[in-house]
Amino acid sequence: MPATDTVRIQLPDHRNYDIRIGSGLLDQPASWQGLPKAAVAVIVTNDTVAPLYAERLRERLQAVYTRVDLVVLPDGEQHKDWASLNRICDHLLGEALDRKTVLFALGGGVIGDMTGFAAAIYMRGVPFVQVPTTLLAQVDSSVGGKTAINHPLGKNMLGAFYQPERVIADLDTLDSLPERELRAGLAEVIKYGPIADAGFLCWIEDNLGALLARDKAVLGYAVRRSCEIKADVVGQDEREQGLRAILNFGHTIGHAIEAGLGYGAWLHGEAVACGMVLAADLSQRLGLMPAGFVERLRALIERAGLPVQPPRLGAERYLQLMRVDKKAEAGAIRFVLIEALGQAGLHAVPDALIVETLTAHGAA
Ligand code: NAD
Ligand code: GLY
Repeated sequence: MPATDTVRIQLPDHRNYDIRIGSGLLDQPASWQGLPKAAVAVIVTNDTVAPLYAERLRERLQAVYTRVDLVVLPDGEQHKDWASLNRICDHLLGEALDRKTVLFALGGGVIGDMTGFAAAIYMRGVPFVQVPTTLLAQVDSSVGGKTAINHPLGKNMLGAFYQPERVIADLDTLDSLPERELRAGLAEVIKYGPIADAGFLCWIEDNLGALLARDKAVLGYAVRRSCEIKADVVGQDEREQGLRAILNFGHTIGHAIEAGLGYGAWLHGEAVACGMVLAADLSQRLGLMPAGFVERLRALIERAGLPVQPPRLGAERYLQLMRVDKKAEAGAIRFVLIEALGQAGLHAVPDALIVETLTAHGAA
Protein backbone atom coordinates (compact mmCIF):
# COMPACT_ATOMS: atom_id res chain seq x y z
CA MET A 1 0.00 0.00 0.00
CA PRO A 2 1.50 3.42 -0.93
CA ALA A 3 2.41 5.77 1.94
CA THR A 4 -0.36 8.01 3.23
CA ASP A 5 0.25 11.19 5.20
CA THR A 6 -2.41 12.19 7.68
CA VAL A 7 -2.88 15.71 9.00
CA ARG A 8 -5.41 15.98 11.81
CA ILE A 9 -7.49 19.08 12.23
CA GLN A 10 -8.37 19.70 15.88
CA LEU A 11 -11.72 21.32 16.63
CA PRO A 12 -13.99 21.56 19.67
CA ASP A 13 -17.05 19.34 20.22
CA HIS A 14 -15.52 16.15 18.78
CA ARG A 15 -15.37 17.61 15.30
CA ASN A 16 -11.71 16.67 14.69
CA TYR A 17 -11.09 15.12 11.31
CA ASP A 18 -8.32 13.71 9.16
CA ILE A 19 -6.89 15.01 5.94
CA ARG A 20 -5.39 11.98 4.22
CA ILE A 21 -2.83 12.70 1.52
CA GLY A 22 -1.25 10.15 -0.81
CA SER A 23 -1.25 8.30 -4.11
CA GLY A 24 -3.99 5.80 -4.90
CA LEU A 25 -6.30 6.85 -2.06
CA LEU A 26 -9.43 6.74 -4.26
CA ASP A 27 -8.97 2.99 -4.65
CA GLN A 28 -8.03 2.21 -1.06
CA PRO A 29 -11.01 0.77 0.87
CA ALA A 30 -9.63 2.35 4.07
CA SER A 31 -10.33 5.82 2.62
CA TRP A 32 -14.07 5.13 2.83
CA GLN A 33 -14.31 3.09 6.01
CA GLY A 34 -15.28 4.48 9.42
CA LEU A 35 -17.44 7.32 8.06
CA PRO A 36 -20.92 8.00 9.49
CA LYS A 37 -23.24 5.07 8.78
CA ALA A 38 -25.92 5.67 6.17
CA ALA A 39 -27.89 3.87 3.49
CA VAL A 40 -27.29 6.39 0.75
CA ALA A 41 -24.22 8.27 -0.42
CA VAL A 42 -24.46 11.07 -2.99
CA ILE A 43 -21.44 12.01 -5.08
CA VAL A 44 -21.58 15.62 -6.23
CA THR A 45 -19.23 16.45 -9.08
CA ASN A 46 -19.14 18.28 -12.41
CA ASP A 47 -19.21 17.34 -16.08
CA THR A 48 -15.39 17.52 -16.39
CA VAL A 49 -14.50 15.44 -13.33
CA ALA A 50 -17.36 12.93 -13.61
CA PRO A 51 -15.97 11.07 -16.66
CA LEU A 52 -12.53 10.94 -15.01
CA TYR A 53 -13.25 9.71 -11.48
CA ALA A 54 -16.94 9.38 -10.62
CA GLU A 55 -17.41 5.72 -11.57
CA ARG A 56 -14.27 4.70 -9.66
CA LEU A 57 -15.47 6.49 -6.57
CA ARG A 58 -18.97 5.08 -6.97
CA GLU A 59 -17.59 1.52 -7.15
CA ARG A 60 -15.58 2.04 -3.97
CA LEU A 61 -18.51 3.58 -2.12
CA GLN A 62 -20.79 0.73 -3.18
CA ALA A 63 -18.78 -1.49 -0.85
CA VAL A 64 -19.97 0.69 2.04
CA TYR A 65 -23.39 2.13 1.08
CA THR A 66 -26.51 0.35 -0.21
CA ARG A 67 -27.05 3.04 -2.80
CA VAL A 68 -24.71 5.61 -4.36
CA ASP A 69 -26.26 8.49 -6.36
CA LEU A 70 -24.51 10.89 -8.67
CA VAL A 71 -25.27 14.60 -9.15
CA VAL A 72 -23.36 16.14 -12.06
CA LEU A 73 -23.26 19.93 -12.21
CA PRO A 74 -22.02 22.18 -15.02
CA ASP A 75 -18.31 22.98 -14.66
CA GLY A 76 -17.06 26.47 -13.87
CA GLU A 77 -16.77 29.26 -11.33
CA GLN A 78 -19.71 31.00 -13.07
CA HIS A 79 -21.88 28.06 -11.95
CA LYS A 80 -21.00 28.45 -8.27
CA ASP A 81 -24.45 29.91 -7.73
CA TRP A 82 -28.00 29.40 -6.48
CA ALA A 83 -28.96 27.37 -9.56
CA SER A 84 -26.27 24.73 -8.93
CA LEU A 85 -26.94 24.68 -5.19
CA ASN A 86 -30.62 24.12 -6.00
CA ARG A 87 -29.78 21.22 -8.28
CA ILE A 88 -28.09 19.46 -5.36
CA CYS A 89 -31.05 20.23 -3.07
CA ASP A 90 -33.54 19.19 -5.79
CA HIS A 91 -31.88 15.78 -5.93
CA LEU A 92 -31.80 15.32 -2.16
CA LEU A 93 -35.44 16.34 -1.73
CA GLY A 94 -36.64 14.71 -4.95
CA GLU A 95 -35.27 11.37 -3.78
CA ALA A 96 -36.54 12.00 -0.21
CA LEU A 97 -33.09 11.29 1.19
CA ASP A 98 -32.87 11.27 4.98
CA ARG A 99 -30.62 13.29 7.27
CA LYS A 100 -28.04 10.49 7.53
CA THR A 101 -27.26 10.71 3.80
CA VAL A 102 -23.54 11.37 3.25
CA LEU A 103 -22.47 13.77 0.47
CA PHE A 104 -19.12 13.34 -1.29
CA ALA A 105 -17.66 16.43 -2.99
CA LEU A 106 -15.59 15.11 -5.89
CA GLY A 107 -13.78 17.93 -7.68
CA GLY A 108 -12.08 21.26 -7.16
CA GLY A 109 -12.90 24.12 -4.84
CA VAL A 110 -16.09 25.06 -6.68
CA ILE A 111 -17.65 21.63 -6.15
CA GLY A 112 -16.24 21.40 -2.60
CA ASP A 113 -17.62 24.79 -1.55
CA MET A 114 -21.08 24.15 -3.04
CA THR A 115 -21.41 20.59 -1.77
CA GLY A 116 -20.34 21.70 1.69
CA PHE A 117 -22.95 24.46 1.63
CA ALA A 118 -25.65 22.01 0.50
CA ALA A 119 -24.59 19.63 3.31
CA ALA A 120 -24.80 22.50 5.82
CA ILE A 121 -28.35 23.47 4.89
CA TYR A 122 -30.03 20.19 3.88
CA MET A 123 -32.22 19.28 6.86
CA ARG A 124 -30.00 21.70 8.85
CA GLY A 125 -26.96 19.56 8.27
CA VAL A 126 -25.91 16.19 6.84
CA PRO A 127 -22.39 14.73 6.86
CA PHE A 128 -20.07 15.32 3.92
CA VAL A 129 -16.64 14.22 2.76
CA GLN A 130 -14.24 16.27 0.68
CA VAL A 131 -12.52 14.45 -2.20
CA PRO A 132 -10.45 17.28 -3.70
CA THR A 133 -9.05 16.71 -7.19
CA THR A 134 -7.28 20.03 -7.86
CA LEU A 135 -4.07 21.21 -6.23
CA LEU A 136 -5.90 24.29 -4.99
CA ALA A 137 -8.60 22.21 -3.33
CA GLN A 138 -6.06 19.80 -1.80
CA VAL A 139 -3.96 22.56 -0.24
CA ASP A 140 -6.73 24.92 0.76
CA SER A 141 -10.44 24.82 -0.06
CA SER A 142 -11.24 21.27 1.09
CA VAL A 143 -9.81 22.00 4.54
CA GLY A 144 -11.32 24.20 7.22
CA GLY A 145 -15.06 24.19 6.60
CA LYS A 146 -15.67 27.38 4.66
CA THR A 147 -18.52 26.67 2.25
CA ALA A 148 -20.17 29.14 -0.11
CA ILE A 149 -21.64 30.21 -3.40
CA ASN A 150 -20.91 33.47 -5.23
CA HIS A 151 -23.27 36.43 -5.69
CA PRO A 152 -22.90 38.74 -8.72
CA LEU A 153 -22.06 41.52 -6.24
CA GLY A 154 -19.44 39.60 -4.30
CA LYS A 155 -17.40 36.43 -4.21
CA ASN A 156 -18.32 33.68 -1.68
CA MET A 157 -20.78 36.06 -0.05
CA LEU A 158 -23.41 33.41 0.77
CA GLY A 159 -22.26 30.46 2.80
CA ALA A 160 -21.68 28.74 6.12
CA PHE A 161 -18.92 27.35 8.28
CA TYR A 162 -19.46 23.60 8.11
CA GLN A 163 -16.72 21.01 8.55
CA PRO A 164 -16.36 17.80 6.55
CA GLU A 165 -16.05 14.36 8.15
CA ARG A 166 -12.80 13.68 6.32
CA VAL A 167 -10.68 14.90 3.43
CA ILE A 168 -9.25 12.39 0.95
CA ALA A 169 -6.58 14.04 -1.21
CA ASP A 170 -5.47 11.51 -3.80
CA LEU A 171 -2.33 12.95 -5.43
CA ASP A 172 -2.88 10.77 -8.50
CA THR A 173 -5.92 12.83 -9.48
CA LEU A 174 -3.54 15.72 -10.13
CA ASP A 175 -2.16 13.79 -13.13
CA SER A 176 -5.15 14.86 -15.24
CA LEU A 177 -5.19 18.48 -14.06
CA PRO A 178 -4.61 21.04 -16.84
CA GLU A 179 -1.33 22.95 -16.54
CA ARG A 180 -3.07 26.29 -15.94
CA GLU A 181 -5.03 24.80 -13.01
CA LEU A 182 -1.86 23.34 -11.48
CA ARG A 183 -0.23 26.77 -11.59
CA ALA A 184 -3.34 28.37 -10.06
CA GLY A 185 -3.11 25.88 -7.19
CA LEU A 186 0.52 26.87 -6.62
CA ALA A 187 -0.65 30.40 -5.78
CA GLU A 188 -2.32 29.12 -2.61
CA VAL A 189 0.76 27.01 -1.78
CA ILE A 190 3.00 30.09 -2.15
CA LYS A 191 0.60 32.03 0.10
CA TYR A 192 1.48 29.90 3.14
CA GLY A 193 5.16 30.94 3.08
CA PRO A 194 4.90 34.71 3.67
CA ILE A 195 1.99 34.39 6.13
CA ALA A 196 3.25 31.53 8.28
CA ASP A 197 6.52 29.81 7.37
CA ALA A 198 9.57 31.57 5.91
CA GLY A 199 11.34 28.21 5.55
CA PHE A 200 8.48 26.89 3.43
CA LEU A 201 8.81 29.91 1.12
CA CYS A 202 12.50 29.00 0.57
CA TRP A 203 11.50 25.38 -0.02
CA ILE A 204 8.95 26.41 -2.69
CA GLU A 205 11.56 28.59 -4.39
CA ASP A 206 13.98 25.66 -4.45
CA ASN A 207 11.40 23.10 -5.59
CA LEU A 208 9.27 25.09 -8.03
CA GLY A 209 10.61 23.17 -11.05
CA ALA A 210 9.76 19.81 -9.46
CA LEU A 211 6.31 21.07 -8.47
CA LEU A 212 5.59 22.17 -12.04
CA ALA A 213 6.92 18.82 -13.29
CA ARG A 214 4.40 17.13 -10.92
CA ASP A 215 7.01 15.19 -8.99
CA LYS A 216 4.72 13.20 -6.67
CA ALA A 217 6.95 13.30 -3.61
CA VAL A 218 7.44 17.04 -3.91
CA LEU A 219 3.74 17.67 -4.55
CA GLY A 220 2.93 15.44 -1.58
CA TYR A 221 5.14 17.52 0.71
CA ALA A 222 3.61 20.77 -0.60
CA VAL A 223 0.09 19.46 0.09
CA ARG A 224 1.04 18.17 3.54
CA ARG A 225 2.86 21.32 4.70
CA SER A 226 0.05 23.53 3.36
CA CYS A 227 -2.56 21.45 5.18
CA GLU A 228 -0.50 21.48 8.40
CA ILE A 229 -0.36 25.27 8.33
CA LYS A 230 -4.04 25.61 7.49
CA ALA A 231 -5.07 23.03 10.12
CA ASP A 232 -3.07 24.89 12.76
CA VAL A 233 -4.69 28.24 11.90
CA VAL A 234 -8.24 26.84 11.64
CA GLY A 235 -7.76 24.88 14.88
CA GLN A 236 -7.07 28.19 16.66
CA ASP A 237 -9.73 30.30 14.94
CA GLU A 238 -12.34 28.26 13.12
CA ARG A 239 -14.80 31.12 12.53
CA GLU A 240 -12.32 33.83 11.62
CA GLN A 241 -12.57 36.01 14.68
CA GLY A 242 -8.98 37.09 14.04
CA LEU A 243 -6.04 34.87 13.09
CA ARG A 244 -7.79 32.94 10.30
CA ALA A 245 -7.97 36.11 8.21
CA ILE A 246 -4.26 35.66 7.38
CA LEU A 247 -5.30 32.84 5.02
CA ASN A 248 -6.83 35.56 2.88
CA PHE A 249 -3.47 37.10 1.93
CA GLY A 250 -3.92 38.31 -1.67
CA HIS A 251 -7.68 37.73 -1.59
CA THR A 252 -8.94 41.32 -1.14
CA ILE A 253 -7.74 42.40 -4.57
CA GLY A 254 -8.05 38.82 -5.85
CA HIS A 255 -11.77 38.64 -5.15
CA ALA A 256 -12.25 42.12 -6.70
CA ILE A 257 -10.53 40.90 -9.88
CA GLU A 258 -12.72 37.78 -10.03
CA ALA A 259 -15.99 39.64 -9.47
CA GLY A 260 -14.95 42.65 -11.57
CA LEU A 261 -13.98 40.64 -14.65
CA GLY A 262 -16.87 38.19 -14.25
CA TYR A 263 -16.42 34.85 -12.48
CA GLY A 264 -14.28 32.43 -14.46
CA ALA A 265 -12.37 34.99 -16.56
CA TRP A 266 -9.35 34.69 -14.28
CA LEU A 267 -8.92 31.54 -12.18
CA HIS A 268 -9.19 32.05 -8.43
CA GLY A 269 -5.51 31.17 -7.93
CA GLU A 270 -4.46 33.61 -10.66
CA ALA A 271 -6.40 36.43 -9.05
CA VAL A 272 -4.94 35.57 -5.62
CA ALA A 273 -1.39 35.48 -7.06
CA CYS A 274 -1.75 38.97 -8.49
CA GLY A 275 -3.48 40.11 -5.29
CA MET A 276 -0.48 38.91 -3.24
CA VAL A 277 1.88 41.06 -5.32
CA LEU A 278 -0.26 44.14 -4.66
CA ALA A 279 -0.71 43.31 -0.96
CA ALA A 280 3.07 42.89 -0.67
CA ASP A 281 3.44 46.29 -2.31
CA LEU A 282 1.06 47.77 0.29
CA SER A 283 3.10 46.11 3.05
CA GLN A 284 6.13 47.92 1.71
CA ARG A 285 4.34 51.27 1.34
CA LEU A 286 3.28 51.02 5.00
CA GLY A 287 6.88 50.39 6.02
CA LEU A 288 6.25 46.84 7.19
CA MET A 289 8.44 45.05 4.62
CA PRO A 290 11.48 46.01 2.52
CA ALA A 291 11.30 46.41 -1.27
CA GLY A 292 13.37 43.23 -1.61
CA PHE A 293 10.47 41.16 -0.29
CA VAL A 294 8.05 42.52 -2.91
CA GLU A 295 10.53 41.71 -5.66
CA ARG A 296 11.19 38.24 -4.25
CA LEU A 297 7.49 37.37 -4.14
CA ARG A 298 6.83 38.86 -7.58
CA ALA A 299 9.73 36.84 -9.05
CA LEU A 300 8.41 33.56 -7.56
CA ILE A 301 4.87 34.22 -8.78
CA GLU A 302 6.16 35.03 -12.26
CA ARG A 303 8.31 31.87 -12.31
CA ALA A 304 5.18 29.92 -11.40
CA GLY A 305 3.58 31.30 -14.57
CA LEU A 306 1.02 33.34 -12.65
CA PRO A 307 -0.07 36.92 -13.40
CA VAL A 308 1.53 39.86 -11.59
CA GLN A 309 -0.21 42.62 -13.58
CA PRO A 310 -3.80 43.37 -12.47
CA PRO A 311 -6.52 44.12 -15.03
CA ARG A 312 -7.29 47.81 -15.55
CA LEU A 313 -10.72 48.00 -13.91
CA GLY A 314 -10.22 51.58 -12.68
CA ALA A 315 -9.55 52.68 -9.10
CA GLU A 316 -13.20 53.50 -8.29
CA ARG A 317 -14.42 50.11 -9.47
CA TYR A 318 -11.73 48.31 -7.41
CA LEU A 319 -12.64 50.30 -4.30
CA GLN A 320 -16.36 49.59 -4.83
CA LEU A 321 -15.70 45.85 -5.23
CA MET A 322 -13.37 45.70 -2.24
CA ARG A 323 -15.91 47.33 0.06
CA VAL A 324 -18.11 44.23 -0.43
CA ASP A 325 -15.23 42.05 0.87
CA LYS A 326 -16.03 40.10 4.06
CA LYS A 327 -13.01 41.62 5.81
CA ALA A 328 -14.25 45.19 5.24
CA GLU A 329 -15.53 46.87 8.40
CA ALA A 330 -17.71 50.01 8.54
CA GLY A 331 -16.76 50.77 4.92
CA ALA A 332 -13.00 50.54 5.59
CA ILE A 333 -11.15 48.13 3.32
CA ARG A 334 -8.87 45.79 5.24
CA PHE A 335 -5.93 43.88 3.83
CA VAL A 336 -3.88 40.98 5.07
CA LEU A 337 -0.38 42.45 5.06
CA ILE A 338 2.97 40.83 5.68
CA GLU A 339 4.56 42.15 8.88
CA ALA A 340 7.69 39.99 8.83
CA LEU A 341 8.58 36.96 6.75
CA GLY A 342 6.26 34.22 8.07
CA GLN A 343 3.99 36.63 9.91
CA ALA A 344 0.87 38.47 8.73
CA GLY A 345 -1.94 40.59 10.15
CA LEU A 346 -5.11 42.41 9.14
CA HIS A 347 -4.72 46.15 8.47
CA ALA A 348 -7.21 48.89 7.52
CA VAL A 349 -5.60 50.68 4.57
CA PRO A 350 -6.59 54.24 3.55
CA ASP A 351 -8.20 54.49 0.12
CA ALA A 352 -5.49 56.90 -1.04
CA LEU A 353 -2.77 54.32 -0.44
CA ILE A 354 -4.75 51.60 -2.22
CA VAL A 355 -5.16 53.92 -5.20
CA GLU A 356 -1.36 54.55 -5.15
CA THR A 357 -0.70 50.83 -5.39
CA LEU A 358 -3.35 50.31 -8.08
CA THR A 359 -1.93 53.20 -10.08
CA ALA A 360 1.65 51.96 -9.73
CA HIS A 361 0.50 48.62 -11.19
CA GLY A 362 -1.47 50.11 -14.08
CA ALA A 363 -4.84 49.02 -12.66
CA ALA A 364 -6.36 52.42 -11.89
P1 NAD B 1 -12.42 24.51 -9.82
O1 NAD B 1 -13.18 23.81 -8.80
O2 NAD B 1 -13.15 25.34 -10.80
O3 NAD B 1 -11.53 23.45 -10.60
C1 NAD B 1 -10.69 23.90 -11.62
C2 NAD B 1 -10.94 23.17 -12.95
O4 NAD B 1 -10.31 21.91 -12.92
C3 NAD B 1 -12.40 22.90 -13.25
O5 NAD B 1 -12.61 23.03 -14.64
C4 NAD B 1 -12.55 21.44 -12.84
O6 NAD B 1 -13.62 20.79 -13.49
C5 NAD B 1 -11.24 20.88 -13.25
N1 NAD B 1 -10.78 19.70 -12.55
C6 NAD B 1 -10.91 19.43 -11.23
N2 NAD B 1 -10.20 18.34 -10.93
C7 NAD B 1 -9.65 17.91 -12.05
C8 NAD B 1 -8.79 16.83 -12.37
N3 NAD B 1 -8.31 16.03 -11.42
N4 NAD B 1 -8.43 16.64 -13.65
C9 NAD B 1 -8.86 17.51 -14.62
N5 NAD B 1 -9.63 18.56 -14.38
C10 NAD B 1 -10.02 18.76 -13.11
O7 NAD B 1 -11.32 25.49 -9.17
P2 NAD B 1 -10.34 25.32 -7.93
O8 NAD B 1 -9.15 26.12 -8.30
O9 NAD B 1 -10.16 23.92 -7.53
O10 NAD B 1 -11.13 26.05 -6.76
C11 NAD B 1 -11.43 27.42 -6.82
C12 NAD B 1 -12.62 27.69 -5.93
O11 NAD B 1 -12.27 27.36 -4.59
C13 NAD B 1 -13.07 29.12 -5.93
O12 NAD B 1 -14.45 29.18 -6.04
C14 NAD B 1 -12.62 29.64 -4.57
O13 NAD B 1 -13.43 30.67 -4.09
C15 NAD B 1 -12.71 28.41 -3.74
N6 NAD B 1 -11.85 28.42 -2.54
C16 NAD B 1 -12.42 28.10 -1.36
C17 NAD B 1 -11.65 28.05 -0.22
C18 NAD B 1 -12.26 27.62 1.08
O14 NAD B 1 -11.60 27.75 2.11
N7 NAD B 1 -13.45 27.08 1.08
C19 NAD B 1 -10.28 28.32 -0.29
C20 NAD B 1 -9.73 28.65 -1.51
C21 NAD B 1 -10.53 28.69 -2.65
N1 GLY C 1 -9.14 30.15 2.25
C1 GLY C 1 -9.33 30.99 3.39
C2 GLY C 1 -9.81 30.27 4.58
O1 GLY C 1 -10.04 29.09 4.57
O2 GLY C 1 -9.96 30.87 5.61
